[in-house]
Amino acid sequence: ALVTTKEMFEKAFEGKYAIGAFNINNMEIVQAVTRAAGRLGSPVILQVSKSALKYAGPGYLKRMVEAAIEETGIDVALHLDHGPDLETVKEVIDAGFTSVMFDGSHYDYETNVAKTKEVVEYAHARGVVVEAELGKLAGVEDDVKVSAADATYTDPDQAVDFVKRTGVDSLAIAIGTSHGAYKFKGEAKLDFDRLATITEKLEAAGIHNFPIVLHGASSVDADSVATCNKYGGDIKGAAGVPNEMLRKAASMAVCKINMDTDLRLAMTAAIREVFGEHPAEFDPRKYLGAARERIEKLVEDKIKNVLGSNTK
Ligand code: G3H
Ligand code: 13P
Ligand code: ZN
Repeated sequence: ALVTTKEMFEKAFEGKYAIGAFNINNMEIVQAVTRAAGRLGSPVILQVSKSALKYAGPGYLKRMVEAAIEETGIDVALHLDHGPDLETVKEVIDAGFTSVMFDGSHYDYETNVAKTKEVVEYAHARGVVVEAELGKLAGVEDDVKVSAADATYTDPDQAVDFVKRTGVDSLAIAIGTSHGAYKFKGEAKLDFDRLATITEKLEAAGIHNFPIVLHGASSVDADSVATCNKYGGDIKGAAGVPNEMLRKAASMAVCKINMDTDLRLAMTAAIREVFGEHPAEFDPRKYLGAARERIEKLVEDKIKNVLGSNTK
């Protein structure tokens, strides 16, 4: 069924696992993610960025998700990723989304609080849950470029104040991840102490089992990158979050793990391989079918071996 993330997160927190949040743009991605989740009996979050909304249209996205739920029978939350303003939030709630992110992380603190609160009031009145963001991730978020030097990790005391004052249902934090395929120059490093402190302080303030969201969590599979490069790609120095770190985050308060880059790489690798191996091929079903198959395998592996949301 089409659901909010409320129950998903409650169970994930208690069970020390996480729900995968996969970005969707087209039919093949929707099918790949939901079929993998369906086979494993896993709930899943399908998320749509502002640019995906523009690319596919809210009506198409909603109806494709409805078809996927009908086919697989799983619980799906349809979520707005990095919502930039109340106007976009209203648009997707009208279209039937069950969850929205308002990303005010680039505003000053008080403006972020005020705008998030406004979104929470609007969404809660309509049965929709809200994710917000505090702290800045390095890298590229939609059209907003945040330089690595500007990146600021989430302050734990501020996180408590933010959750209390806004009434958000979950919070995206900055502990060292970033969007895209180039996350680390040297060794991968995440601030798990900060994550633990945020949860401790929330608990001390009487906010129990509060779900944390990890953005920029693609692991940038070396095999997909190598396949892209083998067949004419030029992706150099790509590095993601090791699966081991994602498992650790999932065992802590992280209940939602966001992945987009991994799907893009899998899709591109599969399509490049078909074109490279079969230069005479021009049936879109052949290369989009191969892409769908590769994403399905990726999602299956993530659910089973990293997130732990299977049979939940
Ligand atoms: O966080 C950003 C997501 O990867 C979505 O990217 O705006 O290019 O769809 P996009
Ligand atoms: P990746 O770029 O690591 O896949 O992150 C996706 C994300 O955070 C979407 O909101
Ligand atoms: Zn993100």
